[in-house]
Parts: sequence; structure tokens; C-alpha cells
Amino acid sequence: MEKDILILGIESSCDETAASVVKNGRQVMSNVISSQIDIHTLYGGVVPEIASRKHVERINQVIGQALEDAGVSLDEIDAVSVTYGPGLVGALLVGVGEAKAIAYAAGKPLVGVHHIEGHIAANYLEHPDLEPPFLCLVVSGGHTHLVRVLEYGKFEIIGYTHDDAAGEAFDKVARAIGLGYPGGPKIDKLAKEGNPEAISFPRAKIDGCEYDFSFSGVKSAVLNYLNGCEMKGIEVNRADVAASFQQAVVDVLVGRAIGAAKKLGEKRIAVAGGVASNSALRQAMKQACDEAGIGLCYPSPVYCTDNAAMIASQGYYEYISGTRHGLDLNAVPNLKIGQR
Ligand code: KG4
Ligand code: ZN
Repeated sequence: MEKDILILGIESSCDETAASVVKNGRQVMSNVISSQIDIHTLYGGVVPEIASRKHVERINQVIGQALEDAGVSLDEIDAVSVTYGPGLVGALLVGVGEAKAIAYAAGKPLVGVHHIEGHIAANYLEHPDLEPPFLCLVVSGGHTHLVRVLEYGKFEIIGYTHDDAAGEAFDKVARAIGLGYPGGPKIDKLAKEGNPEAISFPRAKIDGCEYDFSFSGVKSAVLNYLNGCEMKGIEVNRADVAASFQQAVVDVLVGRAIGAAKKLGEKRIAVAGGVASNSALRQAMKQACDEAGIGLCYPSPVYCTDNAAMIASQGYYEYISGTRHGLDLNAVPNLKIGQR
């Protein structure tokens, strides 16, 4: 029997300080997430300087807890994997600096991981049969991509957003209707009480780019609708706005993903990123995939939003394919998918 490989994952690209130990890329032994949402909520969004400081305060304890929960010592870890981009540079630097220090002190290999490739890998944690190739719809706060996962470390981007990411649109619309940060889960909840057909918001198409996205139009349409109601003295039904906006975004995401899968002959779609936990998106994807005879998977909500288990999973596949980073590894805030 081959020896198990244990990877310590570290994630600090935005407002979650997280560490995890994952066995053989698939089995989560611990998953510790220290969220900063309470602090950033006060400001209506993530304040980069505060995020960095909080990461510094919490990271040692979070990593210690992840090792303790997994019941392993640093000695037993095979490699340290860390998100080195994309993300907030100051936040990323905390995780990268910490990972380098641990790798150096414990004499362990260091493996830098792309945050979005980590989100995709979150699907491996609970779907043991999922292996590349497959199509992935990545929908997070900062990114919206349609990606063909050709191999564990080989990706082809076939669609991307020309302006706002899906999660960003959720957050901005939530703020406009007074729901606060982070808006996605709050819109998801409120939309359940509203009528998704009450208001017709646009579903943008981009000429010549059949798999690309644009969400700034739907966001502006919501803002215009709210202004219009205010000027006319009409009371806004916030649940209808939330449901109709959500439906517009979901229609576009599902339409692009299914259209791409059919045309490219993809048999399976994985959904990844914070917005992958949206209940309307999951439901609509399930129905569309069932109708088209396409397999569907998505992570549990805890692995959709930022976590370190996904980083350890992708880190494992990088590690076994020979990726090693030196102690000169730096944070790369605009790191591209597939960049090595
Ligand atoms: O993947 P993630 O944790 O961070 C980034 O890498 O960006 O995604 C966070 C985003 C936020 O925009 C948040 O509002 C959105 O995911 N989100 C949701 C839901 N849960 C989180 N959006 C819609 N519905 C949800 N249930
Ligand atoms: Zn993320």
C-alpha cells in the first residue's frame, strides 16, 4: 500500500483566515476557518488593511488548531500549500509568509496554489469519482469563469465576465436594498419570499463571446428600478427585487454553462466558489443538467466559500506532479488561472 500524503493548506486571500489538513487530496482531516465578516460588516465590505491585520492576529492559532483537530504534528505533514494569488496583496502576504516560515523551519516542501484552482478542487473533497476532464462554472465574489479542467493542473478558460463577478453583483444589489454584507446569502434567503417573475431584469449577452458574462447591466437595472420607485413614491417589495435579480443571474449562469457543455460534449459540470452555495442556482443547475443528461456536482456550502481544505486538495495534485516553490514565493494579487 502506498503511503498517505498529508498536505497542510493555508488560505488568507480575502477575509477568511483558514487552515486545513487533507489526506491524499480528498479526505478532509481538519478544516478551521476564522471569519472576519463581523468586522467588515461594520464598513459594508472588506477593508483590506483590517483584513491583513486580522490574518496576522489569527493565523498561528488557526494553523495550530488545524493540526490539533487532524491529530497530526507538523513532522507528519508532507508539504505546506498556500494560496499565493489572486486576492488582496496584504492578506495574501500573511499566508505566504507564514507558509514559508513553516516550510523552512520544519524542512517541508512549499507549494503555492491559485485560489480559483482551489475553489475548483473543493469539488474533489466530496465527490471521490470526480476526475478531470470536466467543465467548471466558477462563481465567486471576485471571479466568474467557465473553465475546462483538462487535467488536475491544466485549465482552459472558455468564458469570463467582462465587468462584475456574479458574487460582486449579489453583494452590490444586497447593499442597495439594505441587506448589508455579504449580500449573497441574504439575497438567497429573502428571495425565497419573493416572486422571481415580478420584475424583468436584463440577461446580458455579449456579441461574439457566447460563453462570456456581464453583470453590471443587471446591477444597474436594479439600482434604476429602486430609484424609479423612490421618485414615484412606490413602496419597494424587496423580496420581489431579490428574487427577480437572482433569477436573472441564475438564468445567465445556467444558460452559459449548459450551452457550453452541450457544444463541447462535456459530460459533467462542477460548480465552484461562494455563489455555488446559492439555492436557486443549485436547483436550476440540477434541473437543466437532468434534462440535458449532464452530471452535476458542487461542494457543500462550507467548501464553496473560502476555506483551506480546497487549497490543500489542489496543493496535493500540484505536489504529486512535482510543483515546488522556493522561499522567494511572493503574493501575486492578479495571478491568472493556469499560470505556473
Ligand atoms: O468564493 P468566495 O468565498 O470568495 C471569493 O473568492 O471571492 O465568494 C464570496 C462571494 C460573496 O460575493 C458572497 O456574497 C457570495 O460568494 N455568496 C453567495 C451565497 N453565499 C455566498 N451568493 C449567492 N448566494 C449565496 N447563498
Ligand atoms: Zn474565494
